Amino acid sequence: MRITYLDNAASSWPKPPGVKEAMAEAIDDYGANPGRGGHALAMKASKTIFRTRMQVSRLFGIKNPNDLFFYLNATQALNQAIKGFLREGDHVISSSIEHNSVRRPLEYLRRTKQVDVTYVEPRADGLFYAEDFQAAIRPETRLIAVSHASNLTGLILPIVEIGRIAKEGEVAFLVDASQTAGILPIDVEKMNIDMLAFPGHKGLYGPQGTGALYVRSDLDLEPLIHGGTGSQSEAIEQPTTRPDRFESGTANTVGLAGLLAGVTFILETGVEKIHAHEWSLAKKTIQALQQIKGVDVYGPGTEIERVGVVAFNIHGADASEVSYILDQQYGIATRAGYHCTPLGHRTAGTEERGAVRASFGYFNTDEDVELLITAVTEIASAFHPS
Ligand code: ALA
Repeated sequence: MRITYLDNAASSWPKPPGVKEAMAEAIDDYGANPGRGGHALAMKASKTIFRTRMQVSRLFGIKNPNDLFFYLNATQALNQAIKGFLREGDHVISSSIEHNSVRRPLEYLRRTKQVDVTYVEPRADGLFYAEDFQAAIRPETRLIAVSHASNLTGLILPIVEIGRIAKEGEVAFLVDASQTAGILPIDVEKMNIDMLAFPGHKGLYGPQGTGALYVRSDLDLEPLIHGGTGSQSEAIEQPTTRPDRFESGTANTVGLAGLLAGVTFILETGVEKIHAHEWSLAKKTIQALQQIKGVDVYGPGTEIERVGVVAFNIHGADASEVSYILDQQYGIATRAGYHCTPLGHRTAGTEERGAVRASFGYFNTDEDVELLITAVTEIASAFHPS
């Protein structure tokens, strides 16, 4: 059966040409340990990681590539940012659409370090307003930590305005770009972003097991992981130099070689073009789903641009069952259930039932949308015969 892959918000697939080849080359031609040895193969592995750091930095306007640290995914990057930055008694402002990768570390710190958290809600129109983040600032607020876009409805938060407010209020600004890195333009300098966490395996088109955190040069974090860095080996303390301070243990050279190819593809294609294509597919999907009897679509209307993520339900049908039928009978891969964001489900009004999520990537086509709409129409008519 032909597979129609609509789960790009979880992991993008397929990958652009060059990703697999770069990874195979790293395995076949220079499988040595980067930064641990001066021999030619180790140097080649180090050089690949250096080039990846440079290329990713270019995409996000990061001036000093050493301020970018590689991790296995956005979750690890977010844990480093949140737990490494916050101190006992701090107050944090976040949003009511956060993924558990932001919410759980915050709630952990609430329990263990008396960190207080305010989750800003959208207004009646379903949108977030920067002024509401400003109004939540208190003397003890040290951080605003928000997702750039919801992984459930694709809603985009006003991070340019929130960044301005954070800067004016002298509060650090952390952005979770899990659903936007490689999809929406991000410039850490222009947007006043102090910390940016993102996965490599979603919009950046790298493989799983890659992710990164950018931390502004003068922002000091406590490293979460201590260990070998291949540098200052005689010192008993973790090095203070970046990126080593935050990158203990052998790096994922193979994955980062793939990430380099993915990011190069994005720079050559352009994020504006990628987003325009994904939003066009999502918009068509939302509009078509809204016409099907018995189908609910979540999030604001299509006059509000979102990322290519569409959440819906068929009345009377379990979201997991719909996703299962789409997979088994139509070869359409979607995600169903609770999407690791109970906060987002509460905000969308789906906390009781979850939702089916279709998420588009650059390689999806209009035909994929048509296949999904035909399938949902057939499934819905079984639940709602006219
Ligand atoms: N956070 C990913 C998702 O939304 C895995 O599916």
